[in-house]
Amino acid sequence: MNMMTRHGAALKVENCGKTFADGTCALARATLDIAQSETLVLLGPSGCGKTTLLRIVAGLETPDSGGRVLFDGKDLTRQPIEKRNVGMVFQSYALFPNMSVADNIGYGLKLRGLPKTERAARVAELVALTNLGGLEDRRIDQLSGGQRQRVALARAVAIRPSVLLLDEPLTALDAALRERLRGELNDLLRKLGITAIYVTHDQAEAMELGDRIVVMRKGAIAQVGTPREIYFTPANRFVAEFVGAANIIEAPIESGELVLPGGRVPVSGRDAMSRAVAMVRPETIMLADAATAGLAGTVDSVRFAGDRQRIIVRDAASVPLAVDAPNTVNVSAGERVGLSIPPAAIRLLPEED
Ligand SMILES: Nc1ncnc2c1ncn2[C@@H]1O[C@H](COP(=O)(O)OP(=O)(O)OP(=O)(O)O)[C@@H](O)[C@H]1O
Ligand SMILES: [Mg+2]
Repeated sequence: MNMMTRHGAALKVENCGKTFADGTCALARATLDIAQSETLVLLGPSGCGKTTLLRIVAGLETPDSGGRVLFDGKDLTRQPIEKRNVGMVFQSYALFPNMSVADNIGYGLKLRGLPKTERAARVAELVALTNLGGLEDRRIDQLSGGQRQRVALARAVAIRPSVLLLDEPLTALDAALRERLRGELNDLLRKLGITAIYVTHDQAEAMELGDRIVVMRKGAIAQVGTPREIYFTPANRFVAEFVGAANIIEAPIESGELVLPGGRVPVSGRDAMSRAVAMVRPETIMLADAATAGLAGTVDSVRFAGDRQRIIVRDAASVPLAVDAPNTVNVSAGERVGLSIPPAAIRLLPEED
């Protein structure tokens, strides 16, 4: 496999919705373009339609009439999964427990009638790529969760798929292993340079793995953007709160300033508004001198998190404010603190929901 070039198809999901036979509308009509070698992450809470969308791309589900799925411009909507050349990895790996690691990885190649020597060479390549060296002859039921996950991934990419589809592949693992494998998976996706769609409800996974993230809510797309766009400029309150920690402050605006119980905070460029729903990330709020700061409140609690500390300040805004301070700052509950919020850190959200 040539590791440095782009692989896989460019995909288009056009006007695809899904209403199941029982009337459940799992997916509202959605259109998405996925570039060749891009990793697109579908992120959202349980039941929002992520798997349904993935299954439509895979050919395991047909979209409602009018929906189309195109691989490199070719309409494959009516083609079953066998004709789409997709590699899939699920949460429950679906490996063959009694077969060896090597036989699992080579399974799809055998089905396709690839000669034994070529098969062995391809399997060896993937074993090396996924750090499974020395485990080729082990049975699946003799592997750890992380090793199984790697076998599932190697098996999925062995067939050189047009697109790799991953549905919560790390969910079955414990937190520490998840984090490590997330990094490995990221490296691997970059090395393979393959088009991939990755489903998760974990925002940290989405941030690290996605070239772009599609945030979904109740069967609809809430926002599409790069991790930075999603984090810094969420389109609405749902996205702001689902991705990262967010203070959502509802307040009147007077002379370009948010009027809060604990003081006033300038916002840029929205003088015309009289009320706002504003989002402020905890790490953008700075502690300041209570006597001189424009905004002040009382420390409610301090939670030390090692690399930083999360301070909850009451009476500054209509809701308690979460503030992330450096781990060296010394404050305690009951203390009066000033807060400084740079205008650029305040994101005004549409007043909906
Ligand atoms: N075959 C089906 N028949 C009827 N409803 C279904 C079917 N499959 C899924 N649904 C419903 O469609 C909605 C979306 O399901 P989907 O599996 O796509 O969610 P998801 O985002 O993958 O959730 P999770 O994170 O829990 O896996 C849910 O309300 C689900 O109950
Ligand atoms: Mg799912």
